[in-house]
Amino acid sequence: MAERILLCLCHMSGREMDFIKEAFADNWVVPLGPNVTGFEKDLEKFFFGSDNEHRIVALSSGTAAIHLALVALGVGQGDEVMVQSFTFSASANPVTYVGATPVFVDSEPETWNMDPELLDRAIAERIEKRGKKPKAIIPVYLYGMPAKIDEILAVAEKWGIPVVEDSAEAFGSKYNGKYCGTFGRFGIESFNGNKMITTSGGGALICPDETVAKLVTNYATQSREPAPWYQHERVGFNYRLSNICAGIGRGQMTVADEHLRHHRHVQQLYRELFADIPGIELHDNPSEKFDSNFWLCAITFSPEAKVKGDDGCGCPEAMRRAMEKENIETRHLWKPMHLQPFFSKSPAYVNGVSEDLFSRGLCLPAGPWVGEKEVERIVDTIKRNIC
Ligand SMILES: Cc1ncc(COP(=O)(O)O)c(C=O)c1O
Repeated sequence: MAERILLCLCHMSGREMDFIKEAFADNWVVPLGPNVTGFEKDLEKFFFGSDNEHRIVALSSGTAAIHLALVALGVGQGDEVMVQSFTFSASANPVTYVGATPVFVDSEPETWNMDPELLDRAIAERIEKRGKKPKAIIPVYLYGMPAKIDEILAVAEKWGIPVVEDSAEAFGSKYNGKYCGTFGRFGIESFNGNKMITTSGGGALICPDETVAKLVTNYATQSREPAPWYQHERVGFNYRLSNICAGIGRGQMTVADEHLRHHRHVQQLYRELFADIPGIELHDNPSEKFDSNFWLCAITFSPEAKVKGDDGCGCPEAMRRAMEKENIETRHLWKPMHLQPFFSKSPAYVNGVSEDLFSRGLCLPAGPWVGEKEVERIVDTIKRNIC
């Protein structure tokens, strides 16, 4: 059996163990310490250079980062939050943690992300129905592809609603030369094991300034007040990143640009090899404004395409099974949240785009362990199974 190709497997720089050893040597085996602070500084430098008001708080996950952004915005019981429907459940779950309701908004077909026009109409209708504004907007950068964020920000500004950018999959992606995650009131990053860089598990919240970052850090450390005893005046959470995991993050930051270059190189290889395969379209930057990190390579089968072994399951599933037989991991596109049983009672504004993409799309491997040889094997297997 040929060696397994995984969707996106983590890749170490070699420096990670140095930071971890240091933490052990100094007995900083706790959820704070020099690696946490160092990692936050590395991230700030990466996103903003040396001169900016923004601050970044390292947290235990991207999900925790979304949760704390909502807490910091005062979202609570009875509120609504506009959330991109075409996403992983972690974009929407934290809305329920604060007792609010996600209102799902479908995607536009170019970037596959939140449709700004539909968002505008949906907000108008929510206000008309309930007499109050949604409390936040959560667009997502699916598979690393920037959303039409300037149009989303214009809608947000028109209604006076803060934006929390779910940039979990888009570390290093840029829109109009600016990093995703740095446009809204808050931006969230994920450093889960399969992401562009990893801390094994972890995340970060990009905050507008020091005051907000201090508030978020306080929430993340059980909302402990400065007193000689344990004093708490509001609910708190245990969401700080461990100093050991942050050590992995510091090591990863030394190769972040290399990882980004590699993912974009892999996309270029796919572009070349898919050029002459009818029936398959590669999800790509719609124009020069968009600079995806191409976290995963996403394809769609044209409506006329046929895949061997399709017993009614559809092209993506037939191809996934065929690839699995060749020891290649692939994955369906995210099943839209408005189709998920758990969110069946949530309002949804749909236009058919995410449902159509879900029925026709598949994610292909693109991680640091995927090179020329692997892309050739992947595309060759697809070629042999498309009829
Ligand atoms: C779009 C999206 N949002 C949020 C998350 C949550 O990040 P984490 O796994 O770090 O909690 C993920 C990934 O896992 C994701 O893909």
